[in-house]
Amino acid sequence: MIKFLQTADVLSLRNKILRNDKLTLEECILENDSKATTFHIGFLVENEAVCIASFHQQPKDDFTGLGYQLRGMATDEDFQGKGYGNRVMNFAIVYLRGQNANYLWCNAREKAFKFYLSLGFEFIGDKFEIPHIGTHSVMYLKIK
Ligand SMILES: CC(C)(COP(=O)(O)OP(=O)(O)OC[C@H]1O[C@@H](n2cnc3c(N)ncnc32)[C@H](O)[C@@H]1OP(=O)(O)O)[C@@H](O)C(=O)NCCC(=O)NCCS
Repeated sequence: MIKFLQTADVLSLRNKILRNDKLTLEECILENDSKATTFHIGFLVENEAVCIASFHQQPKDDFTGLGYQLRGMATDEDFQGKGYGNRVMNFAIVYLRGQNANYLWCNAREKAFKFYLSLGFEFIGDKFEIPHIGTHSVMYLKIK
């Protein structure tokens, strides 16, 4: 089941999958996580979030229109490759369209490039390194 979640509901999985469980939950909170314009979506199995994604209203460079940044996209290891990430993203994209968003962007990890490409994202810019995390590229999806 797909649901909107609160910040507190995403921190544990965010830490486990994206920070190797090395941070405290508090340290996993991102700036703007609790802003009124931010929303978090999760796919729940037996009432536990197994796939999460957060969406922050945030323009990118000089792109025109209403932009959102995808943050903290993660699926629990045992649930990867089952289409949950795809379902969460498609739910979010429909919701963003309803919010009159024009585009979505993210700093994508190299391992997730294929996942984002399959959702229709494209690369905008060169690859870059984020220390301790690895190679990334900015990816962009036109919403409307
Ligand atoms: C990247 C990530 C979020 C994808 O989530 P996911 O739930 O595994 O995604 P999906 O299952 O929808 O898609 C993953 C693959 O499974 C395939 N798949 C398998 N069964 C599927 C099904 N029933 N329906 C749809 N896709 C299916 C998809 O084709 C997709 O292949 P692709 O990698 O070639 O695109 C997840 O792998 C993850 O958390 N990775 C570690 C953290 C990370 O890198 N996050 C991204 C940070 S930018």
